[in-house]
Order: sequence, then C-alpha cells, then structure tokens
Amino acid sequence: MNDTFLKACRGEETDYTPIWIMRQAGRYLPEYQKVRGKVTFLELCKTPELCVEVTLQPVDILGVDAAILFSDILIPLEAMGTPLEFHEGRGPVFPEPIQNQADLDRLIIPDPDEHTGFVMETIRLLRKELQVPLIGFAGAPFTCATYLIEGGSSKVFWETKKMMYTNPELFHNMMEKITRTTTLYLLAQAKAGAQALQIFDSWAGVLAPEDFKTFALPYVQQIVSDLQETGLPIIYFANNGATLLEMAASTGADVLGLDWRINIGDAVRRVGKVALQGNLDPFALLLPKEKLKARIGRILEDAKGAHGHIFNLGHGIHQFTPPEQAKAAVEFVHELSQR
Ligand code: CP3
Repeated sequence: MNDTFLKACRGEETDYTPIWIMRQAGRYLPEYQKVRGKVTFLELCKTPELCVEVTLQPVDILGVDAAILFSDILIPLEAMGTPLEFHEGRGPVFPEPIQNQADLDRLIIPDPDEHTGFVMETIRLLRKELQVPLIGFAGAPFTCATYLIEGGSSKVFWETKKMMYTNPELFHNMMEKITRTTTLYLLAQAKAGAQALQIFDSWAGVLAPEDFKTFALPYVQQIVSDLQETGLPIIYFANNGATLLEMAASTGADVLGLDWRINIGDAVRRVGKVALQGNLDPFALLLPKEKLKARIGRILEDAKGAHGHIFNLGHGIHQFTPPEQAKAAVEFVHELSQR
C-alpha cells in the first residue's frame, strides 16, 4: 500500500512528493471515452462497476499516488429531490431551480446510504482493488448552492447574489440544508472506506472576502468540525481563493488546495502549519517537456517549507490535454522530489 499521499496530508516526512490530478478520470483519456460512449454521464455515475473502472484508469495509466472516487458534486443535490440533467456540451442543468422558501421546503436531507447507495458501493468495491489511498469528495455548500439557485453553471451568479443580498434569510436556510446533507454524505463515504475527503469550493472566488466570511465560510467550518470524528485528512479547495487563504485555513482543514494564481511559497508563508496541495496551471501541461519539468521543479522548490505538500494542478485537467503530458508531469514530480 502506497501511503505517501496520506503522510503528506498529515505533514509527515515522505520519500518523495505525492501527486494526483484534479479531474484525473475524464474525457482527456480515450479509455474513459470508451466507457462513456456506452452510457450517459449520470448512468455512469450510478453504476458502481463502471465508476470503479474509470476511477482506476488514471491510477494505472498515469501512476498517480491517490485515486479520487468517480462521481460528481451534483449527485447529492439530485438526491435532495431536485431533478438533474446533463446536456452534451452544455454541462449540468437543474430545470427546477430553487428561488423561494417553498422551493427549498420541497428539498429533503437525504439518507446517503438510501439515496446515494451507488456511491458507497463504489467506495467499498474500490477499496478491494486499490493500492493507493482513495479520496472521497463533495462540493462546498456555497458552490452547491450556486448550481441549485442558478439552475446550472453561471458566469455572473446573478440569481445567487440577488438572493444573498435581497433575501439573506432564505440563502442561509438553503446553506443550512445543503450543509447537513453534505456532512451526512461525507460521513457515509468515510464509513464506506474513503481515506481522505476533499471539499470542492469551485466558485468561492466570485465572492468579496466579507461575503465569503458571512455566507460561505461558517458552513465549511461546520462540515470540517463535524468530520473530525472520522479522523481522516480533510482537504479544502477554494478555487480562485488566493485572497481567502487565511480564512480557508480557519476552516480547520488539514490540507488547503491552491489554484495557480498564487505562488505556493507565498501560500506557505501565509498559512503556517497546514499541508498544501497544488498548484500547476492545468494549461502548463501543454509546455514542451523540458519547460514543464523546470516549472514543476520551481513549484517543488517553492513548496519546500510547507507542512506537507501534495502536488496537483491548480484546477481540473482540461479535456483536450494529451494524456502523455499528464503522465510526464507525474514522472517529473516523482523524479525531482526524491529525497
Ligand atoms: O477524477 C475525477 O475527479 C472525476 C470525478 C469528478 C467529476 N466531477 C466527474 C465529471 C469530480 C471530483 C468532479 C467535481 C465537480 N463537478 C466539480 C468541482 C471541481 C471543479 O472542476 O471545479 C464541479 C464544479 C462539478 C460540476 C460539473 N460536472 C460540471 C460543471 C460539469 C460539466 C463541465 C464538464 O467538465 O463537463 C460536470 C461533468 C463531469 N463531471 C464530467 C466528469 C468526468 C464530464 C462528463 C462527461 O463525461 O461528459
């Protein structure tokens, strides 16, 4: 069992810097496309045997030091009782967005084993196969709320901010319901066998710091605190969150994910005794190999003072990335960080 990733999460000495890649299972891999060619995305997410297959693909092909459960952050939101659709080329759609208290009252706090048992089954099956640790995950409440309120992806977050500013009580009520759902969902993943838990706050960076503090942070703090009983490392990734770093550290997460817009050495100086995960620009994978290697070397060097470093991209790998470039990045990280 390769436990380098778990050691780095805890800030312990490792023989080399572990790496995994956000969205490492996905469309850039022809092997994923082949599985996906036979089923819709949601069918894939709800078929444990197929989820196991695509979770294992990047572990075998790239040689990464951790696996991440194949699923989606929107799965528990569908389980709350709101229909979810994925449209080719357009991404996720919630045709019945939540815009008032009556809409919110219709949502339930689902029992994770009953309503998302396929996720827990995937985790149990994966643990029998894997030689690297398995990361479970969920969306952070603010990021989840944006999808429920907007009815899908958004660029300006008009509906979300309108609710925050004109009906904060409704917004907080929604955040409470999502938070409880997320906590139960992650506790169930831990019970099923997940060995670390990542909270994805993909849209945290659209908030002013004072709004992040009021409308988003307390709910992440609550989740991290409620997950302490699992004893698992908790990773909090606030995308585009360089200005929020100190607040991200105040969540109590063991590991903070970093996007590429901040120098990782600056982050080390700002957060102190917490492990860091990141932070190569996903598009840097397009660099010629020697430049890619030098870029990776600089990140490893800058991260040296960190209380644990897990190499990753600063956000998900892009769907047109050549897989051999991702494989080269994994090899460079392993080679350059040998101690
Ligand atoms: O290896 C892995 O990380 C796979 C598991 C995973 C997926 N989504 C599979 C997926 C994880 C951890 C996610 C997280 C996720 N999902 C986030 C947070 C991370 C981030 O990127 O910020 C978000 C915001 C979502 C919501 C989501 N899912 C969107 C907006 C989309 C459409 C855009 C896109 O990339 O296609 C998805 C679809 C999705 N989730 C795909 C995959 C592999 C592509 C679906 C397909 O096969 O067509």
